[in-house]
Amino acid sequence: MTTEAPQPVLEILGRTSLRGEVQISGAKNSALVLMAGSILCADKCTLRNVPNLVDIKRMGQILTSLGVMLKQTDDVLEIDAKNINPTEAPYDVVSQLRASFFVIGPLLTRLGTARVPLPGGCAIGARPVDLHVRGLQAMGANVSIEDGIVHANLVGNKGRLQGTNIYLDYPSVGATETILMAATLAEGETKIENAAQEPEIVDLANFCNAMGANVSGAGTNTITIQGVSELHSVDYHVIPDRIEAGTFLVAGAITHSEITLTSVIPEHLAPVIAKLNEIGCQVIAESDDGKIFGGNVKSQRLRIVPGELYGTDIETLPYPGFPTDMQAQFTALLSISKGNSVISETVFENRLRHVAELQRMGTNIRVKGNHAIVQGVPIISGAPVMATDLRASAALVLAGLAAEGKTTVHGLHHLDRGYENLEAKLSNLGARLKRIIPSGS
Ligand code: EPZ
Repeated sequence: MTTEAPQPVLEILGRTSLRGEVQISGAKNSALVLMAGSILCADKCTLRNVPNLVDIKRMGQILTSLGVMLKQTDDVLEIDAKNINPTEAPYDVVSQLRASFFVIGPLLTRLGTARVPLPGGCAIGARPVDLHVRGLQAMGANVSIEDGIVHANLVGNKGRLQGTNIYLDYPSVGATETILMAATLAEGETKIENAAQEPEIVDLANFCNAMGANVSGAGTNTITIQGVSELHSVDYHVIPDRIEAGTFLVAGAITHSEITLTSVIPEHLAPVIAKLNEIGCQVIAESDDGKIFGGNVKSQRLRIVPGELYGTDIETLPYPGFPTDMQAQFTALLSISKGNSVISETVFENRLRHVAELQRMGTNIRVKGNHAIVQGVPIISGAPVMATDLRASAALVLAGLAAEGKTTVHGLHHLDRGYENLEAKLSNLGARLKRIIPSGS
């Protein structure tokens, strides 16, 4: 019988106030797509403010398998895609990192061919890529799926993808990014309507334009791309991670602590800040001697001043609506807020799995379809809990910070995908937690 190596767990002693400052890392969901976007250029690209995460390492493995040369020094990633080959990205890595599908657009538009394993579903949903595929087909690609591999080729003797108008049935972040990247080197103009408006889309457009592309309208629901013949080297700062920032704001709220976040772009957190105000907390933006991002946005500091917590309703929506990636964290916060809250998850079909684990800690939450009906309780108690996906794991850590007694979070591989040095950052704020290998395991 094979005995698996014992998996580490996170032990948290709750009801500790936090204080001090925490620096927010670069955005995972921007860095991943910019890494794929670097394939568009045959010169060297430098990405700065790249977070040190398992998902980033996995994307690096995908790029290396395609012949891309990578060198990471701290948060600086040098990428050289001069000699890429259209081999197949390895399925075992693709199946663990859905974002690896982002390479299909750049490979196709640069080489005229791409073979990428179909990313599977994950804990939060089926995660289809039909909108990506239909966009590439609209631009003149022949796309077929054989044995779980997506084969994309230019039809006939056309040397390039052809610009066209594409209307997205849903403002999919990934599909918008795939089509945007493919269109940068296509023939003519591409217009994406009902496009996603997330800050990571704007970061990608700024990155592509810094390489010499011609993208306008990013951040609105209509993005226009004039194809160019080639792109050149770029040195680019990834925007701060608005979801990590939101997670730390909730850490302050849920422990009734005043803490300050540095290197943040407050406007990226507008829906999250609005909800924290509704719940009873103040969030104050202060100037920061921070960096400039995307060529023109200066980072700031965000200070949360806690208050009495009151329940409210949340509906997750595409940006600028309330982000689905913050839903689990707010479910934990609302579980100890006075009164009732209804949380509706409209983006993914299976993103309420953290509720069952929060129930083990004495919360009062009922799931009805894609709604979580929360009745706030004054105190929750520590317990052993199992993380089911990335943001659920963050929610369980936050609940552990607020709970009476000890919480042991299992399934830390989920957490390590998306949070850089979370324990160290929380410990520096005064939290009592440590990662251990359980004895006798
Ligand atoms: C990105 O995923 C993020 N991941 C997700 O963050 C985030 O939750 C999501 O956007 C929404 O904001 C990265 O950027 C790497 P979508 P993505 O395409 O692009 C359906 C995290 O925790 N859809 O906007 O996959 C899909 O099933 C992760 O950091 C189709 O039906 O999100 C879902 O219901 C989780 N067909 C909805 O659209 C398609 O072709 C939104 O998906 C594509 C998507």
